[in-house]
Amino acid sequence: MSKSIDKILKKDKYMDCIRDLIDHEKVQEMNNYIQHGNTTTLDHCIRVSYTSYKISKLFKMDYKSTARAALLHDLYLYDWHKNDEKTSFFKKHGFTHASKALENANKYFKLNRKEKDIIKKHMWPLTLRSVPRYKESFVVSMVDKYKSTGETLVPYTSKIAKACIFFINIFVNLVK
Ligand SMILES: [Fe+2]
Ligand SMILES: [Fe+2]
Repeated sequence: MSKSIDKILKKDKYMDCIRDLIDHEKVQEMNNYIQHGNTTTLDHCIRVSYTSYKISKLFKMDYKSTARAALLHDLYLYDWHKNDEKTSFFKKHGFTHASKALENANKYFKLNRKEKDIIKKHMWPLTLRSVPRYKESFVVSMVDKYKSTGETLVPYTSKIAKACIFFINIFVNLVK
């Protein structure tokens, strides 16, 4: 577990919202799968959950439902990298995993309507017609995109930095 995740799990008020979920064996099972880059699905869900919780709290929204549903938003429980390229376009992971996550979350936990909406719609706007019904669903959907982009880029940051320095050097030499 990374230091940043460890820090999040020490925040008492946040933990009060998700304490009954975090140690469940199915939630912990997300640790067995890689989400983006080097990040496990569980670490990704904790980051999305905590950031969405903070935003919801700041804007006086339903932060408890936000934290809980965001923690479960990717509870699809399989390695999405396997066989995805062989699958037809609209059956690819990006279009289908939110329904699978909701199916699993419903099986193991009691969810309210807002929590179901947050999980089901988190891939919007990719899933065009699955438009978020609550502002909390919109928050989680946006935070998910933001965190996913960061997690995907982390393994490449040193290469990106080197490429930037390379092009800056070329530019500096040209204008000398
Ligand atoms: Fe997702
Ligand atoms: Fe996600």
